[in-house]
Amino acid sequence: MLALYVVFLATALFISSASAAPKDRRCTGTISSLDDVSAAVKCTTVNINSFTVPAGETFNLDLASGSTVNLLGDIVFGNETWAGPLFQISGTGITFNGNGHTFNGNGPFYWDGQGGGGVTKPAPMMKYNVKVLNSPMRVYSVSNPAALVMSKLTIDNSLGDQANANSDGKAAGHNTDGFDCSTHDLTIEDSTIMNQDDCLAINKGSNIVFQRNTCSGGHGISIGSISSNATVSGIIIKDNTIKNNDQALRIKTKSDATDASVTNVTYSGNTATGCNRFGVIIDQSYPSTLGTPGTGVIISDVNFIGDTNNIAVASDAVRVAVNCGSGSCTGTWDWSALEVTGGKASEVTGFSGIENWSD
Ligand SMILES: *[C@@H]1O[C@H](CO)[C@@H](O)[C@H](O)[C@H]1NC(C)=O
Ligand SMILES: *[C@@H]1O[C@H](CO)[C@@H](O)[C@H](O)[C@H]1NC(C)=O
Ligand SMILES: *[C@@H]1O[C@H](CO)[C@@H](O)[C@H](O)[C@H]1NC(C)=O
Repeated sequence: MLALYVVFLATALFISSASAAPKDRRCTGTISSLDDVSAAVKCTTVNINSFTVPAGETFNLDLASGSTVNLLGDIVFGNETWAGPLFQISGTGITFNGNGHTFNGNGPFYWDGQGGGGVTKPAPMMKYNVKVLNSPMRVYSVSNPAALVMSKLTIDNSLGDQANANSDGKAAGHNTDGFDCSTHDLTIEDSTIMNQDDCLAINKGSNIVFQRNTCSGGHGISIGSISSNATVSGIIIKDNTIKNNDQALRIKTKSDATDASVTNVTYSGNTATGCNRFGVIIDQSYPSTLGTPGTGVIISDVNFIGDTNNIAVASDAVRVAVNCGSGSCTGTWDWSALEVTGGKASEVTGFSGIENWSD
């Protein structure tokens, strides 16, 4: 097991209200139950031993500026159908040493194959984190107020691929998105995500880099779904490995969205195998798939350039699908570094600006 090591580069996280740190907090606080938290976070070194968080409570670490947190054992969360989150960490300039330990969300207790539609599930499970095992539903929600790097994280929801007694023969894990991002200046890298929904979903934001990650079993790397007024720009999706997902790379915009845009998206060096439905899909008809597209989200400058994106699709899958509304995909897009093999012929409708590529 890799030692998990995450550094926040001169940053603030989530709802951090960086209160002025007292002059000397260079003590070590130790947490072995929730009762220890308030005293321990007064110190800038916080050691966390293995314990069980009581059902229905958030393990909330509101840290002093510049703190180092050392996870020294596994954390388990009690079972209760409530909204969560289960764990939340706030602070500025935080170093989190996960040391390969586990945060166990006891997903099987909640899983009913319905995600947001079934019993209430704590989501997100983690407001920032380390290795995640069996999240009940969505895992990370990222909305960093300052530049943030998240690296070497593991999300292992592979157990949710199997059906259970409550899931009616379907995969029991559902809506288990890896990273939901509405943010700017974020890098997610060198991480492993095994789940049943989007590996990454960028709902809005700018300057986001997603690189050298491995996504297994889910719905691939997504921009969207894009709602009214959302803007997405300056996205780099690079050198990722995507295995056995419904699709590798997707942009999905809501058919009824207005005043929104997606621009300047670069894909390079990504490798995908076993795409079950599509290799690449850009679809303006969400929540339908390849239905009647809307025209209220302008998509421009979507390029496959640099190192080749090698995408292999399953025999029943469509290599590339583009479904644009009238006039809402604009400009010219350079797809010279896209190679999609296997499956069925591509379907491009509503847009003729793709250059340097043929099916
Ligand atoms: C919580 O749920 C998990 C998964 O269903 C189960 O293994 C565990 O025993 C439950 N814990 C308690 C305290 O009931
Ligand atoms: C988009 O902006 C308009 C005008 O400000 C507002 O009326 C509408 O509620 C917004 N929609 C969403 C989904 O934010
Ligand atoms: C596109 O995005 C990249 C990466 O964020 C950025 O460096 C570049 O300046 C952007 N290009 C334009 C034309 O905005």
